Amino acid sequence: MLCLGIESTAHTYGIGIVDNTGRILANEKAAYTTDKGGIHPSKAKEHHLTAAPGILKQALRKANISLDNVNLIAFSQSPGLAPCLVVGKDNAVALAKKLLIPIVGVNHCIAHLEIGRLLTRTKDPVLLYASGANTQVIAYQGRKYRIFGETLDQGVGNALDAFARYMGLGFPGGPKLQELAKQAKQYIELPYAVKGMDVSFTGILTSLKDKYDSGKYSREDLAYSAQETIFAMLVEVSERAIAHCQKRELLLGGGVACNTRLQEMCRIMCSERGAKCYAPEHQFLVDNGAMIAWSGLLMYKAGVRDDASIVDIRPAVRTDDVEVVWR
Ligand code: ATP
Ligand code: FE2
Repeated sequence: MLCLGIESTAHTYGIGIVDNTGRILANEKAAYTTDKGGIHPSKAKEHHLTAAPGILKQALRKANISLDNVNLIAFSQSPGLAPCLVVGKDNAVALAKKLLIPIVGVNHCIAHLEIGRLLTRTKDPVLLYASGANTQVIAYQGRKYRIFGETLDQGVGNALDAFARYMGLGFPGGPKLQELAKQAKQYIELPYAVKGMDVSFTGILTSLKDKYDSGKYSREDLAYSAQETIFAMLVEVSERAIAHCQKRELLLGGGVACNTRLQEMCRIMCSERGAKCYAPEHQFLVDNGAMIAWSGLLMYKAGVRDDASIVDIRPAVRTDDVEVVWR
């Protein structure tokens, strides 16, 4: 059985093709980027509309199949930017109707966790989902993926990107800060904002901008200090979730999880408490279609189906709103 999954929650339009044993036949994508500023939803939508036919062709070619071989369509239904979600949904509905095959709407955050479980063979991990727009610590308990901690304001990647942009480094800023941090000479004290199990980044961002404006600190030291402080917060909340839920695996997901220093800090924390840390390869950490296809398959096999004539996007649905009937 082959599932074609469409990802379109934000800047990425991706199509993955996965079979029911978890073999990934294709994972193609195109991303909307900006030189200045963040995502403009209607421009991202334009991007997806333009990119969609080419990505579909590319994915079919990569998987070496024709559309008729596809048995199931999955799409990212929630959460995300409505104009972007609509493109994926419309294309998914059109394919399901044309091919007369079932369709399943998937929660994007849960898909990050499910593709990580598949690829790292973890059974019951805590997920640290650290991307541009999202920052959540998620674990399975009582038929739901519960959010044990999350950002109270912006996502961690957006905060890093905003600071990098402020220093004139362009977008995406996360990888650029990582490179600068390697040349740092000293740690500069910054606000540390863990509130209960949640984290907050706006105060740190303001402090970083003020320190940069003062001219007293190097960009390298600021980049290093931003990473050390912000990642320590993420590690602290992840550790508490692991302890609270008595889990033994930490799984990383989201674009910020590509950061080698964050990965290192997570590994140290895990080894100190007898847990193990896992990260899938880069193309599956960032937004991708394969994670939607695989999650759609899991859901379909558990009996979940949507009706192509009425199915819609659900931009505001949260991770813990979804009943996990497939576990
Ligand atoms: P989501 O829709 O899940 O919130 P997203 O649209 O923000 O995801 P991702 O591709 O998961 O997109 O993540 C992009 C973010 O990852 C950007 O903020 C980018 O700066 C950050 N990032 C990528 N590589 C690194 C790195 N090496 N270090 C830190 N941040 C990174
Ligand atoms: Fe994502």
